[in-house]
Amino acid sequence: MTTPTIELKPSANPLSDAEREAILTNPGFGRHFTDHMVTIRWTEGRGWHDGQLVPYAPIPLDPATHVLHYAQEIFEGLKAYRQPDGSVATFRPEKNAQRFQASSRRLAMPELPVETFIEACDALVQQDKAWVPAHGGEESLYLRPFMIATEVGLGVKPANEYLFIVIASPAGAYFPGGVKPVSIWASEDRVRAVPGGMGDAKTGGNYAASLLAQAEAAAKGCDQVCYLDAVEHKWVEELGGMNLYFVYGDKIVTPSLSGSILEGVTRDSLLTVARDLGYESEEARVSVDQWQRDSENGTLTEVFACGTAAVITPVGTVKRAGAEWKQSGGEPGEVTMKLRQALLDIQRGITADKHGWMHEL
Ligand code: COI
Repeated sequence: MTTPTIELKPSANPLSDAEREAILTNPGFGRHFTDHMVTIRWTEGRGWHDGQLVPYAPIPLDPATHVLHYAQEIFEGLKAYRQPDGSVATFRPEKNAQRFQASSRRLAMPELPVETFIEACDALVQQDKAWVPAHGGEESLYLRPFMIATEVGLGVKPANEYLFIVIASPAGAYFPGGVKPVSIWASEDRVRAVPGGMGDAKTGGNYAASLLAQAEAAAKGCDQVCYLDAVEHKWVEELGGMNLYFVYGDKIVTPSLSGSILEGVTRDSLLTVARDLGYESEEARVSVDQWQRDSENGTLTEVFACGTAAVITPVGTVKRAGAEWKQSGGEPGEVTMKLRQALLDIQRGITADKHGWMHEL
């Protein structure tokens, strides 16, 4: 695979310091974007080429561009954190790069070399470093690498041209309530992904498919939908855009990768962070009946959602057809909050990075 270098063509008109600072005081999630983006093209027969860092701008697309019709698209999400000495580091970018390659394979797209993925993220963060929120708070710079099929034509086939882009957005809490516990609707009829489908690929279609179920969850007064498996409608899979963990006293359990669950980087990291803190951690099948029963008999002590965007967010209320219950009295659980703190402390450079997860720029 060829590895293009990234040519720097920075903006002549970046946002003023005052405008940027105003955004950074309350960034929200995914509402504001930095001054630049990185683009790299792939063409059949030529491979990866034309790596550029350019001003953030709309991308003109022919109305017959493949991605607009057949959704050949994949994306990633990772974060850059301001460290105590003012430097910046990203969290496990090689994990995202590897997952991006796995998603590419599933969607018949070319694989971007891991080092090019990381180089592209680094180039953007380096250029827009001033957009990385200050050390001390929970804010970070969220990076969104993605790839679209850009061949023009309506034939259904893998495209012969692609565009890889990285954009960046300063990020506060994903949920407007911050770490306030969220409520979950366990949907027993809508499914997110089927065995052999695309559930373990990070592709926009999975998120489009979640929108109706998410709207139904909202109509039930819930923040997120929880999907069950597509065959038995029984086994807990994941939420609309994040993974789930169950806390049984000193043990944390996350649904095992079934092929239709996205292998979250936060999910994976917590299996290790929990052990570091002296908890047991495991992947196992958890049914929605077990979830209800163990919450009611008190053995299931806490539940939380996790993801790059959501970090760790406690679950307070769960609803399913004919039943509703509270998790940890509707309050953030102790184990949940300890894990959250431990993970954020690694990411923000407050505790030692003993697993070599932080990538310094
Ligand atoms: C992430 O956590 O990075 C995601 O891609 C989830 C999305 C719902 C924001």
